[in-house]
Amino acid sequence: MEKLLIHNIGLLATPRGREARSGKAQGEICLLRGAWILLEGDRIAALGTGEAPETDARRLDAEGRLVTPGLVDAHTHLVFGGWRQNELGLKLHGAGYLDILAAGGGILSTVKATRAATEDELFDKARAALDEMLALGVTTAEAKSGYGLDLETELKQLRVTRRLNREHPMDLVSTFLGAHALPPEYKDDREGYLRLLCDTVIPRVAEEGLAEYCDVFCETGVFSADESRRILEAGLRHGLLPKIHADEIDPIGGSRLAGELRAVSAEHLIVCPEEGIRALAQGGVIACCLPATSFYLGSAFAPVREMIEAGVPVALASDFNPGSCPSLNLQLVMNLACLRYKMTPEETLTAVTLNGAAAIGRAGEIGSLEPGKLADLVIWDSPDLDYLCYRMGSNLAGLVLKKGQIVKREK
Ligand code: NIG
Ligand code: FE
Repeated sequence: MEKLLIHNIGLLATPRGREARSGKAQGEICLLRGAWILLEGDRIAALGTGEAPETDARRLDAEGRLVTPGLVDAHTHLVFGGWRQNELGLKLHGAGYLDILAAGGGILSTVKATRAATEDELFDKARAALDEMLALGVTTAEAKSGYGLDLETELKQLRVTRRLNREHPMDLVSTFLGAHALPPEYKDDREGYLRLLCDTVIPRVAEEGLAEYCDVFCETGVFSADESRRILEAGLRHGLLPKIHADEIDPIGGSRLAGELRAVSAEHLIVCPEEGIRALAQGGVIACCLPATSFYLGSAFAPVREMIEAGVPVALASDFNPGSCPSLNLQLVMNLACLRYKMTPEETLTAVTLNGAAAIGRAGEIGSLEPGKLADLVIWDSPDLDYLCYRMGSNLAGLVLKKGQIVKREK
């Protein structure tokens, strides 16, 4: 088995454990100065401080830099056709996100482009995004469907994700988001679309093993809390675990529903009310917060301090998509989390590693640097965690290792 000893690590920073960390524990991470880490094959064999062990392993000098687990982006809309730069001007002239959607643009214009694209076109485009993400230090990501809104195109998107997962070094976790908007052909028949999702598409997605999670955009003018419940319960009957886009623009009960269903995660939560935070805490739901979306939409920032206070584990993700967050830069998300959510660098690191991994059911395998876990890690061009969270707009990922293999070399 191939062995690699990374030595001369200035600071090794990692959360610990195999499940999400909440409350005070979210900020209690392991910080080892003058550390080394030994990889065997695709796993971490050992780590420690001081003199590196005698071994026949190949050696890699970290040159006194920061090492963390590979970042986990637990919320992306990775596979889509086209872009929506035309909406920038509309936004600048005051059009709101839901106004653009109601006028047939927004998500629906990406649906048009995604339906028109071939599987290979979608694959090539998403592969380029994954290359960029790896280079930024992300080693696992979630990918949602939801730009098909018909059986054929939803399956096409999900198959692209499956193929990327097989052919690209990035590990992908797939989520079915057929309830992302009402497709134009069902504009006067909500019931018809709900039935199509619950009776045809969800069973088919589950049967083909194309997704692990089912998500819903629970929002004014999109899907109500009752409709969301119906869809997520249909997902559950077919083995798809619930996630929910909740309280992004209007608080219409998404976080309450997440708590009741004990959803794996609730996402966005920009306007999450106090009662919603309590529901998340009671239901053991991970809050997946997306500060780059707040930044891009010019909206408020989720009440993350209150969530941490209430014992809700917080994950952070990019929400990469062509409408509300055309960025896949999780380092920028870390900057924004510190500046706008007032998260500490330690809480932020847990949020983009272990808690992100837990939000996609992978905390047993990734999300922390511990013996037995996969050897996904980043050597940063940074001496410590504060510097990584403080520098904005540069890519500080020096060397990225995925399952023990170097996937991004030094600049
Ligand atoms: O998470 N809110 C719903 N879905 C995405 C945006 C999708 C789009 O605008 O294309 C989000 O923000
Ligand atoms: Fe989203």
